[in-house]
Amino acid sequence: MSASKGGVPVLKARLVRGKEVVLDWADILLGRRDWSTPPRRLMFVGGGDFSKIGERYLNFFVDVCGLKPDDSVLDAGCGVGRLAIPLTRYLSPPGAYRGFDVVKPGIEWCSQAITPRFPHFQFEWANLYNKTYNPQGTMTAADFRFPYEDQQFDFIFLTSVFTHMLPGDVDHYLAEIARVLRPGKFCLTTYFLLNEESRRLMASGASRLDFKYGGRGYLTLDPTLPESAVAHEEAFILASLSKAGLAVDTSIRYGSWCGRKGTIRFQDEVVAKKAAG
Ligand SMILES: C[S@@+](CC[C@H](N)C(=O)[O-])C[C@H]1O[C@@H](n2cnc3c(N)ncnc32)[C@H](O)[C@@H]1O
Repeated sequence: MSASKGGVPVLKARLVRGKEVVLDWADILLGRRDWSTPPRRLMFVGGGDFSKIGERYLNFFVDVCGLKPDDSVLDAGCGVGRLAIPLTRYLSPPGAYRGFDVVKPGIEWCSQAITPRFPHFQFEWANLYNKTYNPQGTMTAADFRFPYEDQQFDFIFLTSVFTHMLPGDVDHYLAEIARVLRPGKFCLTTYFLLNEESRRLMASGASRLDFKYGGRGYLTLDPTLPESAVAHEEAFILASLSKAGLAVDTSIRYGSWCGRKGTIRFQDEVVAKKAAG
């Protein structure tokens, strides 16, 4: 891309960021933001209502995944605490929360805003390469050993994280999830799953996301920035879960991302259980 073509989007991005910084300061000076609302400039976790999405997932964790207040929980790819914040009202010691992410400012905000109020909530930065979220990352996700002990957690979730990771990395993360999850316990992961129905809906023009660029075993919206949004083959994800020893519990809860009707969720949600014993 020539300098003149690249200049306009760069300038636009800087103007948007400048506006967010000004509004963040205005929020602080006017007392418009409470401790649990991250600054606008850190809202990199996608659209929708930040607190409503957090509340919906908390209910899902409790009602469907059987989360208990004294459970030990891992939020891999915790972003800027969208799910950690509602969990602070539910988990209490000996219950504990661990979150990690590749975006350093998100982890810094969570560590400063959440941990001092709720010391059983801890956050770690993992300097992993992700072309969209951490292009300066020095480690690869496919080789990353989660910094936790075997069988440390009662519940693990990754919301809107595998939709930004490539298949080899997802495969490795599922194995790591299985390693640090206790037997008989659940994990929740979300996806844009490629199957007959989602492909048909995309071909008909009904999909809100136009996954048309092919990578090795996945589709993306943008070939220059594949991790901006990644759709995975459903068969690959099911095989990968099974290889890790994670059995899909009940059925997959499919989302509306591809134009599917009659569902309240946007991404496809998979609840899986590690075999007991
Ligand atoms: C759309 S955001 C979702 C954040 C959070 N899970 C939520 O629901 O609010 C995607 C997140 O995935 C994180 N991410 C991308 N690659 C990752 C990796 N290899 N390991 C952990 N997190 C990753 C990004 O940094 C970003 O915070």
